[in-house]
Amino acid sequence: MPGLFEAFGRRALFALDAEQAHGLSIAGLKTGLMHSKIKEDPALTQKIAGVSFPNPLGMAAGFDKNAEVPDALLNLGFGFTEVGTITPRPQNGNPRPRVFRLTEDNAVVNRLGFNNEGHEAALKRLANRSTSGIIGVNIGANKDSEDRTADYVEGIRYFHSVARYFTVNISSPNTPGLRNLQTRDNLKELLQRVMEARDEEAEKCPLKRPIFLKIAPDLVEEELDDIAAEVLEQKLDGIIISNTTLSRAGLQSSNKSEMGGLSGKPLFERSTIVLAKMRQRVGKDMPLIGVGGVDSSDTTLTKIRAGADLVQLYTGMIYQGPGLPAKIVKGLSQAVKKAGVSNISEFRDTDNEDWAKRDIPAS
Ligand SMILES: Cc1cc2nc3c(=O)[nH]c(=O)nc-3n(C[C@H](O)[C@H](O)[C@H](O)COP(=O)(O)O)c2cc1C
Repeated sequence: MPGLFEAFGRRALFALDAEQAHGLSIAGLKTGLMHSKIKEDPALTQKIAGVSFPNPLGMAAGFDKNAEVPDALLNLGFGFTEVGTITPRPQNGNPRPRVFRLTEDNAVVNRLGFNNEGHEAALKRLANRSTSGIIGVNIGANKDSEDRTADYVEGIRYFHSVARYFTVNISSPNTPGLRNLQTRDNLKELLQRVMEARDEEAEKCPLKRPIFLKIAPDLVEEELDDIAAEVLEQKLDGIIISNTTLSRAGLQSSNKSEMGGLSGKPLFERSTIVLAKMRQRVGKDMPLIGVGGVDSSDTTLTKIRAGADLVQLYTGMIYQGPGLPAKIVKGLSQAVKKAGVSNISEFRDTDNEDWAKRDIPAS
């Protein structure tokens, strides 16, 4: 079934507005007909932050904002999937059009603005699942919230019984002021309150849910210092690097001047440099998830070699279709075999220094 995309699906989908095409993809996944059979490979399994991942490739947040198709995504070969960003109350997001393909650049600009159906709708769907694949819940704050930190705390409490992990997303460029939560004082308060809520919930439930922080790629070295220090101090479980960028450097497509966050191939280098620099700051034990411009097993391995334990993608699937995750996972198995290592984790950090010494490109 994923082969249909390669045959004629991409041309048909690309004839539509990007958001309409996304709606069709969700509808296609809901049919349950899209399966990519891959055998579980013990060489790709890892325990990260207390969670046993069948392989290191995950679906990034934003594709399944309302938790409509998590199991269908897992059936494509992903080892885990992240739903959201979900805010407490439903909200419409920004006016359309608000998602733009930059085809010549293999990229997308979006300014969706956390359009989503809210906590209640997503929880209903997640509570009805009968399968056990790994689902992370990415939580955010409503645009008009008076206490944004309280929105994150509410997310932790609300989804604690169904999330296998949480992502605290403070790095969307499309909710005005949200990225200010990345500054040291704001981050301290946010993380303290979120961790406190998680620990209280964990007392009622046998499994502790790890919490990851998702950061922007548009940070300078001093900001990375602050985030690393605070994440370590609050004993957070990991960091997801990164969200979309505001940079427009080196783009060809006519849509390059649309406002919003840029994802896909042009984000790869920047997000990988920030990942490697973060690995140097947080040390070997902190789980890191690399995201940004991944579109092959080679780019997945590059993220792992730069310092990632796990990797996510989104835009790569827009361009290459639903067969991509299985193709990547098979490629990872082959790479492990070829290198004669016993587990994918042995690749981690092998190119960390090379990536970490590079400058973060100017915005
Ligand atoms: C259309 C679109 C919507 C997104 N929505 C979210 C979101 O709601 N929450 C979030 O944390 N990241 C969101 N992202 C960011 C992705 O999760 C990811 O961090 C980013 O796109 C970089 O990965 P990629 O280059 O593989 O797409 C979105 C990305 C796109 C393209």
